[in-house]
Amino acid sequence: MSVLVTGGAGYIGSHVVRLLQNRGDEVVVVDDFSTGLAERLGDATQIHLNLASTDAVEVLGDVIREYGVTAVVHLAARKQVGQSVEQPEEYYRQNVGGMANLLSAMRENSVDRLVFSSSAATYGMPDVPAVTEDLECRPINPYGETKLIGEWMAADSARAWGLRHANLRYFNVAGAGWPDLADTAVLNLVPIVFAAIRDGRAPKVFGDDYATPDGSCVRDYVHVLDLAEAHLAALDYLDRDERTETTFNVGTGTGSSVFEVIDQIRRATGQDFEIEVSPRRAGDPPYLCADVSRIEATLGWKAKNGLAEIIDSAWAAEASAS
Ligand SMILES: NC(=O)c1ccc[n+]([C@@H]2O[C@H](COP(=O)([O-])OP(=O)(O)OC[C@H]3O[C@@H](n4cnc5c(N)ncnc54)[C@H](O)[C@@H]3O)[C@@H](O)[C@H]2O)c1
Repeated sequence: MSVLVTGGAGYIGSHVVRLLQNRGDEVVVVDDFSTGLAERLGDATQIHLNLASTDAVEVLGDVIREYGVTAVVHLAARKQVGQSVEQPEEYYRQNVGGMANLLSAMRENSVDRLVFSSSAATYGMPDVPAVTEDLECRPINPYGETKLIGEWMAADSARAWGLRHANLRYFNVAGAGWPDLADTAVLNLVPIVFAAIRDGRAPKVFGDDYATPDGSCVRDYVHVLDLAEAHLAALDYLDRDERTETTFNVGTGTGSSVFEVIDQIRRATGQDFEIEVSPRRAGDPPYLCADVSRIEATLGWKAKNGLAEIIDSAWAAEASAS
């Protein structure tokens, strides 16, 4: 298989690239390197391109033909929720515009397999302990909206010209499959706590009065290597004649609270740091955890790693970087 991976220089994409290469697939990465790092890619072919640029359809078409691309994993996106609230046009331009260009190039060149990086942000603030894919999506920020629109675009392309697609709704991604593929962005809980430890600050916890067992928010943390494997399972699924589903939660099905994550970080780092409890943030539901029955039953994929492995691998990657 020859797979085009958009956003392959990113944190998650670089794991997908490495797994595809390890199983012998040809890989071409298209990335604008806005947050991606070339050194994550080893000898993978790299094309420097912003998917939202005016010449993207033409360049993608050339790439597809030159490398005989037969399937696409589309991870390239801007992903900062707060920034998406401040600059919604830019998020629509990059995430929706970029996907429109990608779909045009795929259609024009008869590439009909797409695995799309969606997000649990499509659900918004669900009032249930574990969400199934059939729950109505009500994203509460432009970032989540661009992901839901991406799913609609894929569904419309399936109707219009027979695209085969799988939307993977990632929950909270953390850890590192290899020490050189750390999450270097300080946006999610684990890197935020690591950065605070590095700077000798007490990490902030937003809210300890939620209706959860220990008062802090509960999330479903999935190891990035398990998540990357789900992409390979989804690509294989798209080759089947019988396909009953298009959208899959990717999580473990087990929630961990912010305090549990912090305890695991204390254990892994051997540092007994203090925390600072701040008021709740707007837009944080008490629980956001995946019901994973569909992906387990349909793709035969199941997360192998739990919270301890996630934190240990993240800390090993952090330690090797410093
Ligand atoms: N990290 C998470 O917890 C999480 C959760 C849910 C969904 N996602 C989604 O997974 C995908 C990958 O996320 P990540 O955490 O690896 O982020 P990342 O920022 O590390 O990776 C994104 C990659 O896409 C590239 N990129 C961004 N916009 C582009 C554009 N317009 N054209 C070409 N390249 C572009 C970046 O340079 C980067 O290499 C994103 O679509 C993100 O929305 C991530």
